Amino acid sequence: MQEKSVSMIVVAAGKGARAGGRIPKQYQTIAGKTILRHTLDALIRSYPFTEIVCVINPEDNHLYEKSVEGLSLSPAVKGGNTRQESSFNGLKALTAKCDLVMIHDAARPFVSDNLIKELIDSKASATIPGISVTDTVKRADPQMNIIETVNREGLYSVQTPQAFDYHMLLKAHQSLTTASFTDDSMIMETIGEGVTIIEGDEANFKVTHPEDFKKAEMTIMNRLADI
Ligand code: CTP
Ligand code: MG
Repeated sequence: MQEKSVSMIVVAAGKGARAGGRIPKQYQTIAGKTILRHTLDALIRSYPFTEIVCVINPEDNHLYEKSVEGLSLSPAVKGGNTRQESSFNGLKALTAKCDLVMIHDAARPFVSDNLIKELIDSKASATIPGISVTDTVKRADPQMNIIETVNREGLYSVQTPQAFDYHMLLKAHQSLTTASFTDDSMIMETIGEGVTIIEGDEANFKVTHPEDFKKAEMTIMNRLADI
């Protein structure tokens, strides 16, 4: 069977405010490589993507250039103020025709070959990885006082990469008038397109808070110990 043409957009234009540090989290180093480089190396290993485009904050260009040394990527694209704008800019910058487009967070360095394969093999026009919520879920007010316990049945916490029919996702982005969507599947939902969830991967966590750097380092050490 002929391989599908799949393009990959890596959104890396965030400031990493919750993670803290002198530089945005995607440029911080764990086990000798920046998080962005871990992510890109994992993606490049997993599939012969038609093109890979990183969306970045131009202020971080020097950090970006150092991170991607030696890789052959499409030119980086300028990010926006929100993730949604960054992902839209990435979509508009794709130059080659593709059957499928994937959007991935730069801050998820442990994306697996298997997850990429399952997303590409999906028959749906929008497919995302999700993990069913096992903890009891509460809604609280800003003072941390509980308002209610949320029924967790059917609740998933979702990850990236997310895979879409390219034209459908572009159309969905073009139809929006607000810019606060935190993932691309939400954008598809707003135009009434169905989105399918496949089993996500606990290891594919997003580096978000300061303690996640340690967790990421431990993950790498454990993998090295397994070889
Ligand atoms: N992102 C982006 N453009 C933005 C905001 C986020 O490309 N304007 C990217 C981030 O670089 C990250 C991914 O979207 O790879 C997921 O976002 P998040 O984890 O929220 O990262 P940040 O926005 O950088 O972190 P924070 O919200 O803590 O500031
Ligand atoms: Mg953010």
